[in-house]
Amino acid sequence: MKTSFFTFFTITISLLYLTLPLSLSQRCNRKDEKTLLRIKKSLGNPPVLTTWTRNSDCCNWDHVECDLYNDRITSLTLFSSNISARVPEALGNLPYLETLIFRKLTNLTGQIPATFTKLTRLKTLSISWTNLWGPIPSFLGQLKSLVTLDLSFNMLNGSIPWELATLPNLETLHLDRNRLSGSIPDSFGTFTGRVPAIYLSHNLLNGTIPKELAQVNFTWLDLSRNKLQGDISVFFGTNKTIEAADFSRNMFKFNFSNLNEFPATLASLDLNHNRIYGRLPESLTELDLQKLNVSYNKLCGEIPAGGRLQNYDNSAYFHNRCLCGSPLPACK
Ligand SMILES: *[C@@H]1O[C@H](CO)[C@@H](O)[C@H](O)[C@H]1NC(C)=O
Ligand SMILES: *[C@@H]1O[C@H](CO)[C@@H](O)[C@H](O)[C@H]1NC(C)=O
Ligand SMILES: *[C@@H]1O[C@H](CO)[C@@H](O)[C@H](O)[C@H]1NC(C)=O
Ligand SMILES: *[C@@H]1O[C@H](CO)[C@@H](O)[C@H](O)[C@H]1NC(C)=O
Ligand SMILES: *[C@@H]1O[C@H](CO)[C@@H](O)[C@H](O)[C@H]1NC(C)=O
Ligand SMILES: *[C@@H]1O[C@H](CO)[C@@H](O)[C@H](O)[C@H]1NC(C)=O
Ligand SMILES: *[C@@H]1O[C@H](CO)[C@@H](O)[C@H](O)[C@H]1NC(C)=O
Ligand SMILES: *[C@@H]1O[C@H](CO)[C@@H](O)[C@H](O)[C@H]1NC(C)=O
Repeated sequence: MKTSFFTFFTITISLLYLTLPLSLSQRCNRKDEKTLLRIKKSLGNPPVLTTWTRNSDCCNWDHVECDLYNDRITSLTLFSSNISARVPEALGNLPYLETLIFRKLTNLTGQIPATFTKLTRLKTLSISWTNLWGPIPSFLGQLKSLVTLDLSFNMLNGSIPWELATLPNLETLHLDRNRLSGSIPDSFGTFTGRVPAIYLSHNLLNGTIPKELAQVNFTWLDLSRNKLQGDISVFFGTNKTIEAADFSRNMFKFNFSNLNEFPATLASLDLNHNRIYGRLPESLTELDLQKLNVSYNKLCGEIPAGGRLQNYDNSAYFHNRCLCGSPLPACK
């Protein structure tokens, strides 16, 4: 009796001893571990991933995070590393991934692989300051969990896929600083729910603003430094809720006198370097604008007096055809 109890006790203890370190090292999901090691290999085994070694808990590796409950990889973040490789296809085999951030990997190249369609839990996809090229794939429209999509500062070209407007939870869309061409998709007038903050500056976008965009309320919009034409009236009207709009350095050409209903929410409006003509509307004096810049256009007539319009320095108004009055020199 005594011996058998002792034996039982010893066996239990030694079993515990054997399984405890084993189960600790197994915290990380084996499939995820395998996938991460494959990713490491396709990134060329860079020094930044030296902690990624077999037989250590991959939940403890640098640059990744695991879910507390199911121990699956939920986050992978790499900043400023000397990685010369293509975007690994194996990333698509991390099904619990919610955050993927690759930033300032200037030698990371290739295109966004189609395997990304499997990342249905992805909330943040940020690949910026890399050498990513080619089109923005339309299949990104399948990643319905996306809240933040940031593909800025890359070499992406081709046009913006209309499918991005089908992302129901999108709050921020950064496609600025690429080589995107073509026009802004009509579908941006069909965002359901809140329209995301949209940044499209420093591209080669052309054509006119689609009239469909009048159907929704934009809040933050940066279209600066493109080749856009026509007018911007679809974003305004007393009905709208736009807060900050940068249309500078495009080819917009319209009579500003006809654009006179601005939403009370408007706090920043930059129109510099376009071909806007006519006069500044009186209604601008009713706005609480933190920033206004209409310089380098073809405007004429007296700057309306009142509101904040005399608070900006003259560079907000200079280089127009015949704009005059404070803060510019008095009209003749
Ligand atoms: C990118 O690769 C080139 C060629 O191998 C190398 O000279 C350069 O230092 C790398 N850039 C960065 C930021 O690591
Ligand atoms: C980046 O790595 C490449 C080789 O992969 C090397 O030639 C280059 O000097 C490295 N650049 C920096 C800035 O470390
Ligand atoms: C995008 O860039 C690639 C590589 O430079 C080029 O082959 C392709 O024609 C470009 N596509 C568009 C639509 O400009
Ligand atoms: C936009 O640019 C493309 C070439 O990139 C050209 O084919 C097209 O005609 C342009 N569209 C407009 C409206 O200017
Ligand atoms: C925009 O928002 C305002 C205020 O919330 C609302 O009254 C208006 O109907 C909205 N317009 C559209 C087109 O959704
Ligand atoms: C304001 O928006 C509503 C619905 O979004 C629309 O029916 C109405 O015509 C708009 N009014 C103006 C002045 O644009
Ligand atoms: C701009 O529109 C106003 C009001 O409709 C009109 O009086 C003016 O002549 C137009 N200016 C130009 C340059 O077409
Ligand atoms: C307005 O824009 C012009 C052109 O970019 C710039 O030189 C000027 O400093 C700006 N002024 C203000 C007040 O924003």
